[in-house]
Amino acid sequence: MHPMRPVIPMAPMWPKLPPPPLASAATSRRPPWRAPSEARCVALWDRYEMPEHIRAHSAKVALVATQVAEAALAKGMAVCVDTVRASALLHDIAKAYCIQHGGHHGQLGGAWAMTATGHPVLAQGVIHHMYWPFELDYPRFFTPLAVLYGDKRVAHDQIVPIEHRFGDLLDRYGKTQEIRERIESTNRQAKTIEDALSKLLEKDLNAHDFDRRRLVE
Ligand SMILES: [Fe+2]
Repeated sequence: MHPMRPVIPMAPMWPKLPPPPLASAATSRRPPWRAPSEARCVALWDRYEMPEHIRAHSAKVALVATQVAEAALAKGMAVCVDTVRASALLHDIAKAYCIQHGGHHGQLGGAWAMTATGHPVLAQGVIHHMYWPFELDYPRFFTPLAVLYGDKRVAHDQIVPIEHRFGDLLDRYGKTQEIRERIESTNRQAKTIEDALSKLLEKDLNAHDFDRRRLVE
């Protein structure tokens, strides 16, 4: 017998990822990925130790984004309401972690969401929920734009007009001219998205109280 202990190969540590979608599914209009249920999203909040106040905030963002998605679906747009809801529920999943350890909470949260759900459109909503860097193509990028809009309508856990939320951000974080300009540019984009969605859905989103009544009766 060999005097040295045999080397036992270690199992790879990579998480098991879902296979890429089939070509036929990828070219169809139906999304080939299935959105996680609300219960599964709450289980992911637990797994990533999301604090209570971020859960309360995320639930309100999901309330707004889901109603916007339902209104778009009622208008005949190809929108997956469950994907929008799940993306909104998970949009801040890495926020507490990044406050403590650094990093970009959208990017890290998007990577976590992609690993946990295998759903690239859902993950795209998490990655870009602060600012959308591409063209504002609403049918093509509905999920991330609805999540971004929902986030801009919620200050802490209250549904408020966009102007109110940005006033609060300027008061709390607008310490330098550069930061103020960044906040103002995000505010301008949020207003552009609100106006475009209002036109598309034929509803005045700015005037709507998502908390007490639904957008689609
Ligand atoms: Fe948020």
